[in-house]
Parts: sequence; C-alpha cells; structure tokens
Amino acid sequence: MTTDNESIVAPGTPESIAVYPGTFDPITNGHLDIIERGLHLFDRVIIAVAVNAEKEPLFPLEERLQMIRDCFPNDKERVEVNSVSGLLVDYAFKQGAKAIIRGFRAVSDFDYEFQLALMNRRLEREVETVFLMTGFRWIFISSSIIKDAARHGGDVSGLVPDHVREMLQEKYLAG
Ligand code: COA
Repeated sequence: MTTDNESIVAPGTPESIAVYPGTFDPITNGHLDIIERGLHLFDRVIIAVAVNAEKEPLFPLEERLQMIRDCFPNDKERVEVNSVSGLLVDYAFKQGAKAIIRGFRAVSDFDYEFQLALMNRRLEREVETVFLMTGFRWIFISSSIIKDAARHGGDVSGLVPDHVREMLQEKYLAG
C-alpha cells in the first residue's frame, strides 16, 4: 500500500492522531482499506493490536505485529504498530490520540460498535470514535472467515496481503 509519506502538519500545528484497534488475526485487505481511509483524515494512525484474552489467536502477538509492520514498509512516519493490553481509551489518551477509528462493514456491526463507542466515551470523553465505511469489496470478509478458508486449502489471495497469505499457508501446512 502506498500513502503520501510527507508530513501534512504545518510547523507548530499539533499532529492529529487516531488509534485503530483490533485483534488482526490476521490483518486483511479490509483492515488495510480502513487504515488507508484513516490516513486521509489523520496525520498519524497507530494500529493497536489487542492482546485479546477472549480470542485464542492463530498468530502470536509478535507475529501479528510484524505482519502488520510489513504492510507499511514506506509509511513509518505515519503508521505505528503497537500492542495494547489494558483499556483502549487509556492507551489512546496517553498517545495523544483524538480518535479511535472503527470500520463498518454491514448493519450487523452496528449494535456492538454502538455499545463499544458509548462505553469508550463514558470511560474517556476526550477520545471520539470515528466510523469509516469499509470498501464495498471487503464487506464480507473477517479474519475468521479468511482463516477458515485457508485452513481448508482455499485461495485467499486478493483478500489479504501476499505475505499474510504465505504465513497462513505455512501455519496450516505446519499444523
Ligand atoms: N475488514 C475486515 N474485517 C474486519 C474489519 C474490516 N474493516 N473490521 C472488523 N473486522 C473483523 C475482524 O477481523 C474481526 O474478525 P474475527 O472476529 O473473525 O477475528 C471481527 O471483524 C471483529 O473485529 P473487531 O470488532 O475489530 O474486534 P476485535 O476482536 O478485532 O477487536 C477490540 C476488539 C480490540 C477493539 C476491543 O476488544 C477492545 O477495545 N479491547 C481493548 C480492551 C477495552 O478497552 N475494552 C473495553 C471496551 S468498552
């Protein structure tokens, strides 16, 4: 993915930062689409990879961090990839972020997203949630459905970056 690498911040102007959280097990082209849209709105996007106790990820945290960093070889100025284990809003606030980005794929995302955004606002009013509409091509994908297809030998090229497709193949061949 290519984005404008030059800073869009005028000297003396505070940077606008957004946090884009998720489990990213693995990152998909749908996530990348949201990040690209976020970079049109914010100077910097911090991808916050959740240490999610409720999910048992296929890829350990370090592998998820690295696979995401490998998606942005030329965007180190504007895209940062970190892990987050506590409350998301606390992390966002400490990073100086003014927004949390969430992607909408379908109406079915609404209830959960609404709840999450209102709870996050209650916990920290300084951080707004911004919803971005996923590109139409990606509305049907999720990390789970990609893993399911890959596990059964399905071709997931075009739905995840090439290096992620290779990592999926290696995992399932090894398994
Ligand atoms: N394209 C493709 N897939 C997408 C997508 C997009 N644009 N947006 C979401 N998805 C998929 C994800 O891959 C994920 O798929 P999976 O369930 O198959 O793994 C699914 O939709 C759900 O994604 P998301 O809603 O982002 O959940 P998540 O588990 O990845 O992340 C956190 C949830 C991390 C944002 C949330 O648990 C959190 O904020 N945790 C921090 C702790 C905290 O603060 N808790 C209090 C919150 S009130």
